[in-house]
Amino acid sequence: MATKTEQSVKTLIHGEWNVSESGKSVEISSPHNGETIGQVPSLSQEELEASIKKTAAAQSTWGEKSIQERGEILKKWAEILEERKEEIGESIMLEVAKKRSSAVSEVSRTAEYIRYTVEEAFRLDGSVKRGDGFKGGNPNKIGLAEKTPRGTILAIGPFNYPVNLSASKIAPALMQGNSVIFKPATQGAISGIKLIEALIDAGLPSDLVTVATGRGSVIGDFLVQHPEVDMITFTGGTATGRHIADLSSMIPLVLELGGKDPAIVLKDADLDKAAKEIVAGAYSYSGQRCTAIKRVLVQNEKADELVSKITDQVNGLSVGMPEDDATVTPLINDKSADYVQSLIDDAKEKGATVVTGDKREGNLLYPTLLDHVTSDMKIAWEEPFGPVLPIIRISESEEAVRLANESDYGLQASVFSTDMDKAIGIAQKLEVGTVQLNAKTERGPDHFPFLGVKGSGLGVQGIRESLESVVRDKVTVINM
Ligand code: G3H
Repeated sequence: MATKTEQSVKTLIHGEWNVSESGKSVEISSPHNGETIGQVPSLSQEELEASIKKTAAAQSTWGEKSIQERGEILKKWAEILEERKEEIGESIMLEVAKKRSSAVSEVSRTAEYIRYTVEEAFRLDGSVKRGDGFKGGNPNKIGLAEKTPRGTILAIGPFNYPVNLSASKIAPALMQGNSVIFKPATQGAISGIKLIEALIDAGLPSDLVTVATGRGSVIGDFLVQHPEVDMITFTGGTATGRHIADLSSMIPLVLELGGKDPAIVLKDADLDKAAKEIVAGAYSYSGQRCTAIKRVLVQNEKADELVSKITDQVNGLSVGMPEDDATVTPLINDKSADYVQSLIDDAKEKGATVVTGDKREGNLLYPTLLDHVTSDMKIAWEEPFGPVLPIIRISESEEAVRLANESDYGLQASVFSTDMDKAIGIAQKLEVGTVQLNAKTERGPDHFPFLGVKGSGLGVQGIRESLESVVRDKVTVINM
């Protein structure tokens, strides 16, 4: 069903706002009501080829600009995003069914991220070494290790943060003097284009960015294997991340992938606090976050009490439409909802108890809590990316560590305990990028290093770390 606000959106290709030469486009509809929001150009490999060449060629002039000049444009970008946060937030809300307030705050968070990126970039320097560090070394050699841009960065964004997780790749890349090929998620592409419109309005030379909208099946592999691409930074599912790693060759990758973050609750934990954090961590944006809490490992002695407290909180969650600012909103598409439902059904068949939820209206799944989940159930190991939380009862903390580490994923984990020594001891044993003590799993604050191990990713993001990832060393040796 088309609406009066439906828009035909142009993309940034060959340094201009254009539709596809073929006239083809991809229709974007709202996940929650099926209304068409607009169309984005469905680009072909041929038209991308010419644009990528132009974007790659533009890099050298940009890389030679002073960091001050680059920073001024990025700061202006942040300012414009802040001015347009309601409009861009509306677009995010419509495209990915994120509640209105979170969609708007995603834009503000992005502006703040960009400003911090500019400031941090000023403080990143290379190093100088004298050549007498080895036996028989030569003190008359001085090595100047500078940081230079890698060249052209392919930034591939996810649907769940179409603005924030795109800008957190694009801003460091540009700040460090690179050019960018940006592939937004199809569902989220209009918001991604609005992000880049603000960037061009801030004064960025338009041929420095190509926005590769279109079908992943047509242009995805082509982009990943393109010889002009000097690095790939991607956020999305683990299967796609592995595919990218298989296809690409001899270029650096930063991959932010899936997770199965456990909340480990020990018998001495503050259960009120644990329940509050777990529910916020598991169900916000309907669990469609890589860092969502995706399983609870609780000691038997306190399991009943914790389940009761979590249930009270879950039953208080607002469920509905993003326009009404509901916390639990329809999932991104029917396929996702079907998958989550299949995990719930599998758990029920194998003996899990449905404490609350297990109700579905189209792709809106009510927040679901499953108790007595065991290791033979898929929900114990697979990532639902939806509003369902399994409770796994354990006897000793060692069992929690073993179950946590048996996962293919290793993004984050939470440990809830009033015994800090014990909590830290467990944290040391967990094979994850980050452990949160007595709080939910989450990426921010955004200047903290952010990484996953095993199937959860490769490389490190953050602000300093992202800036460092998009440069390489260039060494000049002065021989006196
Ligand atoms: O979905 C992956 C995001 O990096 C999660 O970010 O913890 O701020 O929701 P968040």
